[in-house]
Amino acid sequence: MNVLQSKIWKFSLITLLLPAAVLAQAPAKKPAAKSSGQVIYEQHCLTCHQVNGSGVPNLNPPLRNTDWVNGDKNRLINVVLKGLQGQEIEGDMYDNAMPAHDFLTDPQIADVLTYIRSSFGNKAGAVTAEEVKATRSQK
Ligand code: HEC
Repeated sequence: MNVLQSKIWKFSLITLLLPAAVLAQAPAKKPAAKSSGQVIYEQHCLTCHQVNGSGVPNLNPPLRNTDWVNGDKNRLINVVLKGLQGQEIEGDMYDNAMPAHDFLTDPQIADVLTYIRSSFGNKAGAVTAEEVKATRSQK
């Protein structure tokens, strides 16, 4: 190999191997970022309703497949704004009371309700901040 050939050889090695090395070091794909609704759920709802929305038998109702979650949005928004107590939920009674969460903002309530309506097997439509605002303004 003469000097020129050797230079060409090194140059092609570098141009081929460098991108491969850079690619190999690229960080593994990050898991999808949590939605804001999930973050609010984990902070304010999870202790009672559990990570998978199963609830706790006799204490806290599940958020899966209930008419309260998937049905009328106005009634659902009021559960979060005013709390709930002594109601029959899908044929069962629960000893705990759900505290009012009216300290959450309209967008926070919209996000957390959109999250529960599209999680745990639920497939109901999103709730908007405007809808929460409208329900909050009804007395
Ligand atoms: C301290 C425990 C507690 C916390 C915290 C809590 N809940 Fe509840 N939740 C309950 C209980 C207990 C009931 C049932 C009340 C009754 O028996 O009438 C309930 C009922 C509900 C219902 C209607 C019934 C159903 O299962 O579909 C929804 C929807 C709901 N909660 C959503 C939420 C959301 C969203 C949050 C967070 C913003 C939250 N809850 C935080 C205890 C809690």
